[in-house]
Amino acid sequence: MNIKKVGVLGAGTMGSGIAQVCAEAGLEVILVEIQDSILQQALSKIGASWQKAVEKGKIDSTIKASREALLKSSQDLSSFKDCDLVIEAIIEEISVKKKVFKAMDEICPDYTILATNTSALSITEIAAATSRTDRVAGVHFFNPVSVMKLVEVIPGSDTSHSTIEAIVNLTKAIGKEPVVAKETPGFIVNRILNPLVNEAALAYQEGVASAEEIDKAMKLGAGLPMGPLALADMIGLDIVLHVTEYFFNEFGESKYRPALVLKQKVRAGHLGVKTGKGFYDYTK
Ligand code: 3HC
Repeated sequence: MNIKKVGVLGAGTMGSGIAQVCAEAGLEVILVEIQDSILQQALSKIGASWQKAVEKGKIDSTIKASREALLKSSQDLSSFKDCDLVIEAIIEEISVKKKVFKAMDEICPDYTILATNTSALSITEIAAATSRTDRVAGVHFFNPVSVMKLVEVIPGSDTSHSTIEAIVNLTKAIGKEPVVAKETPGFIVNRILNPLVNEAALAYQEGVASAEEIDKAMKLGAGLPMGPLALADMIGLDIVLHVTEYFFNEFGESKYRPALVLKQKVRAGHLGVKTGKGFYDYTK
């Protein structure tokens, strides 16, 4: 299957990034977000990024205009009715995802592939909410989507070979590098990266060093592109906590127990860059 029209559900950090890279690759995109303020924020962020690319001389204004023409938006799920692929990037709540997949299954034609950008949840469980379990898969992008090359592609227990092939081909067409991973909590990257971030939060909580020093140590001593606490702030502490709690419950092993400081920051509404405060203060 040759994917030409992509639907993206959810215009948060990941959804808007996915919509952006798909339009940049010349695909027709429909970005659906229920909350108008989030949708408008996403569209202006994408527009600003393309304007910056024009100013830097990376693209000309004709290319910017053609990207803008490819990217449509809506607040209505029925806008997905002629998409070849829909990628869901909403809240990491299994019950909400199942409800949305059931609704999309009813709206979309038989040929549409329904994919989830979940960080860790079960693809098989999400697929079971639909009548097309062979055409549901995980397609997991990384933040910031426009920069990070990897996309994890995850089959559920019933996902067909042709569905995976279509998604792999799409990820290559948008300039990404796909890696197919087995359906296990966190797949590959989050399975390994999340415990590292949680360990950094534990070290911070124990007073081993300041956030700046922990990050500096991991950048200079372990060659990471950014420190784990700054990374946690960029991902969103709510998402980091959610993934850590999910691992703790799924694996049932104490090594995945979330650092208390993560819980405290999330309870205080300090979710990182997106709220202005996390391990660092972005308001100054
Ligand atoms: N959004 C969009 N573009 C960004 C960006 C952002 N948040 N941050 C940086 N960029 C772009 C810059 O505009 C610049 O583009 P240009 O070359 O066209 O001008 C380019 O990236 C390089 O930027 P900088 O030189 O300012 O910064 P760095 O070289 O330090 O790169 C980084 C920034 C790419 C964020 C790098 O620090 C990095 O790779 N960090 C690790 C990110 C990571 O691990 N992501 C995975 C998180 S886990 C996840 O997403 C899974 C989820 O399920 C939780």
